[in-house]
Amino acid sequence: MSKKRVAVLISGRGSNMTALIEAAKASDYPAEIALVISNRPEAPGLTRAREEGITTAVVDHKLFGEDGEAFERALDAALVAHRIDLVCLAGFMRLLSPWLVQRWSGKMLNIHPALLPQFKGLHTHRRALEAGVKRHGATVHFVVPEVDAGPIVEQDSIAVRGGDTEDTLAARVLEIEHRIYPRALRALAEGRVGIASLGEDGRKR
Ligand code: GRF
Repeated sequence: MSKKRVAVLISGRGSNMTALIEAAKASDYPAEIALVISNRPEAPGLTRAREEGITTAVVDHKLFGEDGEAFERALDAALVAHRIDLVCLAGFMRLLSPWLVQRWSGKMLNIHPALLPQFKGLHTHRRALEAGVKRHGATVHFVVPEVDAGPIVEQDSIAVRGGDTEDTLAARVLEIEHRIYPRALRALAEGRVGIASLGEDGRKR
């Protein structure tokens, strides 16, 4: 079976992107990282991807001003132009509209640094400490129009320790992220997980 062509969308350092690139080097891995797209030209992850010989593209949201639709059409055009099968959001800090999400329904994953459905949104480590939870972790899920709400593909957790700070917690959760994202992508690329695709009208197709 031919490998699925994957695009990783980043905005920053790209450590999850790197974990996916490393995993995809295995000959039996069912996906190849064919493209890395950043919405920020200065994202450090872009340099890393280029060092790995991976094609990169910048779709700078700032150039589109208030026109989020045009930004997303440009993103989609880049994905189509590179014959991308699957998309992994990895620290991609733009909210996507239902239009793009539905176009890639069942083919787009995101990683979130919390045990969803707990702590959707930002500052998850701080909020986990404030809430006094005993366990905290990370989740890979399908992207659906509602933010951080799609069906879960992989999840793992660690115990929160007495002396934990946002930074120590983030570091241990990041190790989980790097482990579960390659596993989730493998499961999707092998067709072992999926969701019913919705058409642009929101109906099943
Ligand atoms: C990760 O914690 C990820 O879960 C969140 O943003 C962070 C991105 O880190 N969505 P990196 O760019 O993958 O290093």
